Amino acid sequence: MTIPAILAENLGRTFGDKVAINNVNLKIPSGEVYGLLGPNGAGKSTIVRILCTLLMPTQGRARVAGYDVATDPMAVRLRIGAALQSTAIDGLQTGREMLALQAQLYGISSVVAQKRIAELEALVDLGKDFDKRVSTYSGGMKRRLDIAIAMLHRPPMLFLDEPTTGLDPRSRQQMWDEVRRLNKELGVTILLTTQYLEEADSLAHRIGIINNGGVVSEGSPRELKRLVRDDIVVANVQGDAVSVESRLADIRGVKSLTVTGDRIEARVSDGAQAIGSVAIGIQQAGLTLNDITLRTPTLDDVFMELTGAHMNKEVGHEPVR
Ligand SMILES: Nc1ncnc2c1ncn2[C@@H]1O[C@H](COP(=O)(O)OP(=O)(O)O)[C@@H](O)[C@H]1O
Ligand SMILES: [Mg+2]
Repeated sequence: MTIPAILAENLGRTFGDKVAINNVNLKIPSGEVYGLLGPNGAGKSTIVRILCTLLMPTQGRARVAGYDVATDPMAVRLRIGAALQSTAIDGLQTGREMLALQAQLYGISSVVAQKRIAELEALVDLGKDFDKRVSTYSGGMKRRLDIAIAMLHRPPMLFLDEPTTGLDPRSRQQMWDEVRRLNKELGVTILLTTQYLEEADSLAHRIGIINNGGVVSEGSPRELKRLVRDDIVVANVQGDAVSVESRLADIRGVKSLTVTGDRIEARVSDGAQAIGSVAIGIQQAGLTLNDITLRTPTLDDVFMELTGAHMNKEVGHEPVR
């Protein structure tokens, strides 16, 4: 039997009275991109920090590359790279200097370091800016430099804590491409955390949905979506749908409704069958229908099913640093 890249058993962490995570179990095979998906405060960073040996668990145990994070942290550190939320990279140095310093920290000879830095230059994709001070970098550039630094000692495993939070769409796309490339071409096992449903959906082979310090469900995006057996009818109407919400609830075949402004989402067991009666019901409630469509469940529907709430109320788009 091969050793899982990451194994967590009944992992827990408290801060005083505060339970940050509780009874977390993970088994992540080598070569996988695993996404921890959950809202702010769910416990994602706590899990990552424990697995990176930066925080001790108060319960349970975890093994990374077969080594216990509590009793063998150095063995773990040699085999992982991490780009965490809190990394403060020194603004006075250039990207190239940062990488050279990292090489020294890991005892990599300068000849080897030169070679690796040249390779990683492509990954960072900073062009001339590679020799400029980091303080002049954009959020996306800093994140890519973070990852290059984390990869310098060629770890087989990479931890990325919210790698795209606050990035613009283009930088986010670039980061996604990079994650895929590291996984596909170099076989790096990647554990990433995210608050973005779309990010988990498109990047992760498997997702652990985390809420209130626990993993509430796990599976491939497709498997998770299958948990929601219903279809969703989406109607856009003229005017305020909220005012007639109670009348809409009586429409035949509708299991539940989400009404926000001029948008109505109705969960139904058979979309093709129900779409007509939803359209009629909306008109009978006195609203004018602009359009009506059918969609299959998204991870947000899954999150709603599991926790009773939507995940993304509002995730900030401003740069975090
Ligand atoms: N050092 C700490 N002291 C006290 N509470 C903490 C500390 N770190 C995290 N927490 C709490 O633990 C919970 C999980 O936090 P965190 O793992 O950072 O969540 P996430 O990364 O998913 O946003 C939160 O309620 C947070 O306030
Ligand atoms: Mg966090």
